[in-house]
Amino acid sequence: MFVRLKSKSIERKTKYLKVHSFDCVESTNVLAKELADAGCQEGETVVALRQTAGKGRLGRSFLSERGGVYFSIVLRPKKGVSPLFITVAAAVSAARAVEAIGGNATQIKWVNDIYLNSKKVCGILTEGSFNNNGSLKYAILGVGVNLFEPKGGFPKNLPLAGSVFSKLGKKCNFLQKNRKKLKFLLFFTKNFFSFYKDLEKKEFIKEYQSRSLLNGKEITYTQNGKEYSGTVMGIDNDARLLVQTDGQTQALSHGEIQIVGMEQLLI
Ligand code: BTN
Repeated sequence: MFVRLKSKSIERKTKYLKVHSFDCVESTNVLAKELADAGCQEGETVVALRQTAGKGRLGRSFLSERGGVYFSIVLRPKKGVSPLFITVAAAVSAARAVEAIGGNATQIKWVNDIYLNSKKVCGILTEGSFNNNGSLKYAILGVGVNLFEPKGGFPKNLPLAGSVFSKLGKKCNFLQKNRKKLKFLLFFTKNFFSFYKDLEKKEFIKEYQSRSLLNGKEITYTQNGKEYSGTVMGIDNDARLLVQTDGQTQALSHGEIQIVGMEQLLI
């Protein structure tokens, strides 16, 4: 038996969200975008317990089986806000939320993947809609977290996918699981909106830097079609990845990186 999270019980506990809750949807980001295009207010949120066409970064899909919680929040940021910092603030909020519901210490793989015990347990996708003059009209902040393993485990082709709780899932009924999902959502929201109200102050950046999974790792990356390798030195205050290559430090602001010797992340 599956029961969606109750919109009212979420709304009672947070002033930030107006919730549309579903058992299963194609993609909460797509539904949230429809709400935003229809003119909804900031904070309207679509929540689901399963997605059949979850969207990941770089046009990938995002596995969204039962056991997780998937939600998208409509944001109407102040002028000048960069979608990158929405994502970075969300990554710190998600890392804290995983720990708050009982997970061990989390790390963030630049830009926005949350890792626990060397497995990716949470992904974030921020999608923006822009006005003709290039300013941000609205942003959809989508978060998907695997709290419990899906039935039958994760597919073999996703070796880095993990869940926050591995054993606990077997002992919990669906109501207890839903309580954990609700707690994650509320904890995430509280942290995220406390950063978001003054996003330009970047109150999250030190924590983002200190949670970086990539520090000291050998990576490869592609720039202008050419492949480079280097050592990650850290993350700067603009959330750029600092990589030492041939004695010089490069600041990467976007793009895909691969950790040398680690299987490619496919979720
Ligand atoms: C990534 O890891 O590449 C980003 C994954 C983002 C997944 C979330 S789940 C909720 C929201 N709806 C989607 O379709 N995608 C985001």
